[in-house]
Formats: sequence, structure tokens, C-alpha cells
Amino acid sequence: MRPIILFVVVVVSLLGWPSAAARRAARDGRADAGLQAWARQRDFYVGAAVAMQPFKDERAYQETLKREFNVCVAENAFKFDSVHPAKDRYNFAETDALVAFTQANGMKLRGHTLVWHKQLPAWLTQGSYSRAEAVSLLKDHITTLVKRYQGKIWAWDVVNEAVAEDEAGLRKNSFWYQKIGPDYLKLAFQFAHEADPNALLYYNDFSAEDTGRKSKDVYNLVRELKRQGVPLHGVGWQMHVDGDFKIKPAHRDNARRLAELGLEISITELDVRMPLPLTPTAATRQAAVYRDVADFCLRQPNCKALVLWGFTDKHSWIPQVFPGAGDALIFDADYRPKPAYATLQQSLQAAGTSAPKVTSAALNGEHLTVRGDNFGPGAQVLINWKRQRTESDKQSPAALLVRKVATLINPGRQVTLQVQNADGKLSPEYNFTLQ
Ligand code: XIL
Repeated sequence: MRPIILFVVVVVSLLGWPSAAARRAARDGRADAGLQAWARQRDFYVGAAVAMQPFKDERAYQETLKREFNVCVAENAFKFDSVHPAKDRYNFAETDALVAFTQANGMKLRGHTLVWHKQLPAWLTQGSYSRAEAVSLLKDHITTLVKRYQGKIWAWDVVNEAVAEDEAGLRKNSFWYQKIGPDYLKLAFQFAHEADPNALLYYNDFSAEDTGRKSKDVYNLVRELKRQGVPLHGVGWQMHVDGDFKIKPAHRDNARRLAELGLEISITELDVRMPLPLTPTAATRQAAVYRDVADFCLRQPNCKALVLWGFTDKHSWIPQVFPGAGDALIFDADYRPKPAYATLQQSLQAAGTSAPKVTSAALNGEHLTVRGDNFGPGAQVLINWKRQRTESDKQSPAALLVRKVATLINPGRQVTLQVQNADGKLSPEYNFTLQ
């Protein structure tokens, strides 16, 4: 063996990567098996924020993105000051490049963000605009972006961080709030929906994931928007957390109450900051946090995506904003997978392996029979994310029966069915129109 080959073998085996799982995936013909290969088994989305400088300059950056993820989001390129630097000028160079990259690689793209109080250009914040002019600027900005990328943006973070952190209700220190008043949210969602009726429209915020004061304000806001018929489909939980973070019953309660409003959730900006320098013990603790968050999202029927705020410690916003902390992501600064990569992979793999799958659903009078594969003992049927009392069908052990379904769903209505096993494993969604 020539020394260089020996070196590669030693490094790869020290890192434990490719893991046994990835080797198996490769044997199965998925030579490029990254995190996304496991996510796809369950129609799940795992992704990362993209910084445009390394995207252009570093070969490993794009290669890692393609191999590992099936959804991206721009870290800054879609923000107002970047994409709309002068009143009559848009700068689409970077947004176009990212849209082309995701389209070419079969990835989804989240659009972040249309309306925020930060990263606004001076021409906007220092101009003297009337309310009507501000509404028209809001409409122009949203319509231009959403129409340009119609069908190519999976979900838009239409409004970011509109809820105040230090007082109840909406944030007042926002250009949009000051110029337009609280209605700017409703208007923003309406403009976005008119421009692309098929895009998922999200409200995105931090400290929105549990049931504390701010999460409650976020919940009240989205409940009110839904009540008013505003086109809103999901809530993004940013989740910039530290190594002490743990999923608590409050996170499940919050996800459930949002599901009851008909809202999906996504974890949109996960990173797990640690004191620098990162010790091996701390790296293991960090890995446990990644696993905990991933397991939570994968078992929560309305949690659709897990997006990290970057992927390599070489490019992360954390060290600038939290001095003394960093190394918050799953690859180190040399693009080598950290323990957190392995736990994330295991979590996605476990969720996909022998997960139940719905293959058919049929209505017999008042009863719905759901058939499929890998239904475990105690499996439950979820209809539009709501758990139903189910029984095993005596005629056919692989089928589940939901009684009195007519009282749950109106005929002609499209419903989404999933089956969840007692161990939390969830089937992909199965769409069914009741006749
Ligand atoms: C951050 C970026 O990561 C930085 O590069 C930029 O300088 C400031 O914004 N919440 C959000 C993101 O919604 O847009 C922020 O991104 C991080 C916090």
C-alpha cells in the first residue's frame, strides 16, 4: 500500500465515516448516501443555510450540500438589503444562483425572509414614506420575489421575528410596524399568496418552540391570523440553542396545539453552540442535543423539516454573536463529520427503517380501513395530524380500522393520513379524497 492510500484509510477509519449505514446504503446503490438519503425514506427534509461566499469559493461546500441535504435556505441572499439594494433595483445574482443549484440537484429551497425588522437597506428605513407608500413598497418587494421564483420556493418565511421578546404582543421597533401598524403581517401573507398560491407560507421566530411567554404570543398571533382566514401554513422554530438544551413535554404540547390550528412546523435554524475550544466531551453532549431535536421532529407528525443554520464550523454566525461560543454545527472547519453528524444520521436512519407505510384507504360505510406495511402493535391512524381511536381489522391483520369516520371528515374533502407506530415511527403522508 502506498503511503498516501494508507493515510486516507487511517483518517477515514478514525472518523468512523463512511459509517456502516452509509456503506450499506452504498451497497444498495445509493453511493452518495448522505443525510438526505435517509430523510427521503420518510418524505422528510433535512437541510442547511447557505452562505454565498463559500458557496462560490469552496468546492467542498457545494459538494457537501448536494451529498447531505434535500433542502436549503439562504443565510442572507434573500434578505431585503441584499436582494433589493436600491428602490428601483433588485440584485438577483445570488438568489438566482441558489435557485438554479437547488433545482439542478432535486432539492427544495426555503425563502428567508420577505419581511423582517433587520437587514433593511437605508433607502427604505431612512426614506420618508406614508403608510400607503410603505404598503406599496411591501407589496412590490413581496410580489417581485415570490413571482420570480414561483414554483421554485417550497416555503417562504414571509414574516420573521414580529413578536416582541421583552413585552407582550408585536415588536414595535420595526420599520413595518411603525409605518403600517399591526396589519402589515396580514398584508404580507396575502401578497405572498397572490403571487404564488402553491407556496407554503411560514411565520418564523426564535423562542417560539416551547409554551413560555413568547411562544404563547406567537401562538396567539398565528391563531388570530388563521381565524381571519389569512393564508398561513406553518410556523418556523429557529432554535439557536446551546449544549444544555433538552426537548420537553412543552415542545410536544406546542407542536400539537399548532397542529390543531392546521399548521405545520419546521425547525428552521438549528445550531447548538458550545464553549470554545470544543472538547470531546462537549462534542458528545452536542451530538445528544442534535439527536434529541431530530427525534422530536421526526416523531411529530406536523414537523416537516429540520434545517440547520449552516453545516460547517468554518462558516457560522455564532462566534460573532456569542463571543466565546461556536463549533455549533455538524461538520468541523475541515468539513469532517463531528459526533453530531453521526447522531443525526442515526436518528434519520432509525425513523426511515421499518417505518410504517400506508398503501391504501377505503371507506366502508362509517368505517375507514387503512392498509399498509410495517404496522406495529398499537399503531395509530392520524387524520390531518389528529390521532384517531383505531382497531386492528379482524379480517386482515395488516389493516387498521377507524370507526365513525363520517363524523370526523366531510365527504369530498381531501385528507392526509399517516400511521404512527407505538415506537414513534411515522409513515409518509398518504393523501386521500373521501368520496
Ligand atoms: C444571521 C446570519 O447568519 C448572519 O450572517 C447575518 O449577519 C445576520 O443574520 N435569525 C434569523 C437569521 O432569522 O436570518 C439570522 O441570520 C440569525 C437569527
